[in-house]
Amino acid sequence: MKPLIAPSILAANFNSLGEDIRVINHSEADFVHCDVMDGVFVPNISFGIPVVSHVKKIAEKPLDVHLMIVEPDKFIDDFARAGADYLTVHYETCPHLHRTVNHIKENGVKASVCLNPHTPVAVLEDIIAELDMVLLMSVNPGFGGQKFIPNTYKKVTQLRNMIDKTGSDCLIEVDGGVNFDTGKKLIEAGTDVLVAGSFVFNADDPAGTIHQLKNL
Ligand code: DX5
Ligand code: ZN
Repeated sequence: MKPLIAPSILAANFNSLGEDIRVINHSEADFVHCDVMDGVFVPNISFGIPVVSHVKKIAEKPLDVHLMIVEPDKFIDDFARAGADYLTVHYETCPHLHRTVNHIKENGVKASVCLNPHTPVAVLEDIIAELDMVLLMSVNPGFGGQKFIPNTYKKVTQLRNMIDKTGSDCLIEVDGGVNFDTGKKLIEAGTDVLVAGSFVFNADDPAGTIHQLKNL
């Protein structure tokens, strides 16, 4: 099975974001990964609802919206209206995770939960059957271009076992420091979706890089 590829527009050229979205449209990418940061949960601010709704107008692939924000429940309806196809919330920001997951689904959006590098996959045991996707951070969230944390491979294997036991079709996505080397090992460990920001958009040929990630 080929992996799904989700280029992160955090590394795109914001002076010509539309052009970079069109590059994704004409590539073999499967999703457009949108990194929303609030400067509170993570030490950086990126973009929010208006940018996501403009991306939606030209993107021909589903939007995979990664919310690195505190109190995500306040904004789920807005991001759904803006056109999110998948909404990912962080486990670390959701004291009532079951309620938040249902809130996402009530909007007709696929529900995904993200774990920071230090959060064990076991915390998802009692909700995994209800999730459409789990996002494992392989760097500390907040910035593109960071070094991959190798402990992630073990977490992918553990999560793969947990999902296979439930018989669900929940996807495993990994985000941070993905390149040809880490990407290949992640696929071998059972990853379904590779997020790649700087590796794609800093390349001379982003569409070619997406093609190569798809065919590792
Ligand atoms: C990090 C973001 C990532 C980021 C990945 O906080 O969630 O999606 O864009 O960037 P790279 O692929 O450059 O590590
Ligand atoms: Zn992300």
